[in-house]
Amino acid sequence: MATSKNDLVSISEASEALKVSIDTIRRWEKKGLIKATRDETGHRYFNRKELSQLQEKTQGKGDVGYKILKRKSPTKFKVVELFAGCGGLALGMEHAGLKCELLVEIDKKAAETLKTNRPKWNVIADDIANVDFTNIKADVVAGGFPCQAFSYAGKRMGFEDTRGTLFFEFARAVKEINPKVVLGENVKGLEKHDNGRTLTTMLGVLDELGYKVAYKVLRAQYLDVPQKRERLVIIGVRKDLNFEILYPKEKNYTVSIGEALKDVPPSEGQVYTEKKRKIMKLIPQGGYWKDLPDALQREYMGASYFLGGGKTGMARRLSNDEPSLTLTCNPAQKQTERCHPIETRPLQVREYARIQSFPDSWKFSGSTASQYKQIGNAVPVNLGYHIGSAIVAMLEKDFKNSNFLNL
Ligand SMILES: C[S@@+](CC[C@H](N)C(=O)[O-])C[C@H]1O[C@@H](n2cnc3c(N)ncnc32)[C@H](O)[C@@H]1O
Repeated sequence: MATSKNDLVSISEASEALKVSIDTIRRWEKKGLIKATRDETGHRYFNRKELSQLQEKTQGKGDVGYKILKRKSPTKFKVVELFAGCGGLALGMEHAGLKCELLVEIDKKAAETLKTNRPKWNVIADDIANVDFTNIKADVVAGGFPCQAFSYAGKRMGFEDTRGTLFFEFARAVKEINPKVVLGENVKGLEKHDNGRTLTTMLGVLDELGYKVAYKVLRAQYLDVPQKRERLVIIGVRKDLNFEILYPKEKNYTVSIGEALKDVPPSEGQVYTEKKRKIMKLIPQGGYWKDLPDALQREYMGASYFLGGGKTGMARRLSNDEPSLTLTCNPAQKQTERCHPIETRPLQVREYARIQSFPDSWKFSGSTASQYKQIGNAVPVNLGYHIGSAIVAMLEKDFKNSNFLNL
């Protein structure tokens, strides 16, 4: 969605319009609940609509309990899951009532995770480039293709020109299966990747294959996931069907880590060195390196101490009463530390899984590092459920359903 200049307000205008203090807006920004854009002179501006949505949410029901969402009965609709990973999106789709007809995943450990948890799923543990989809029938083709640049050589890229990329393999599966609905999932950064050309090409290729397409950035923290995580979601519908495109509507509440980690079973996890533990012990909930005494800040940050930017992910301890910051492939990376809110240690594997809304019964294969990676790469299961539910409503032609946004 494009932002016009009129949508932007200064911090004092925002404070006046919303009747909240400047400090409150600063706090929202520090917590990552809202992002400011800066002009050439370094002044901060906020998006008016986002601010009022946020205010509505903070005045809404606030934090609600953690639950894994599931439709009561299955539907007749079938989905093919490409780049399936450890099954976050696939399980979310299943919870929304879709049947997983076929899954493709190159990583042996992630594929083993899928097979262990769902022995009846048809999992192909291979490079997607080796898979022939011509005899597959499904209502939906879904997949989070890894983002790669296209090499343009000055021309507009069509389907055949994207050959050699993973997006091409995704598009080839769409061409061969010809489903009613296509779902592409990616990082938010895809919107700006190569100045927007990568996304424009992808949307153009899906259009060429006969799909009406839309995209939207979904924020998991407002869709029953105890984590701030943004994903760009492309939905395409076959042009001959006259379907409307539906997206999940954000809720006016969030789920905190404290709720999500209640009674979490103990599990494997990375450990800090004694030196790191001593540093992290000094950080309060929601705090980061700036909460250390100056001498320790200098020691811990090294050269980064003198560089600009907030670096709010460094030496970060999560806060029990908020959704988690985005999980990455490792909970103890220097730039994106994810220390447990109360204990002085990195989040454990099962805690990672809860924050991604995987049920405790979902087992992950491979080493601890591989498990963190599989979970960190996944679409949160509840986000998958909400997207899947929107797709089911589309397939059922329930276009006026007020649970969904009609784009
Ligand atoms: C972002 S992850 C997908 C996460 C998944 N959607 C989920 O919700 O759990 C991308 C996956 O694509 C897989 N992948 C990368 N290249 C592939 C290829 N050539 N063929 C099949 N899978 C591939 C990776 O191993 C990784 O698991």
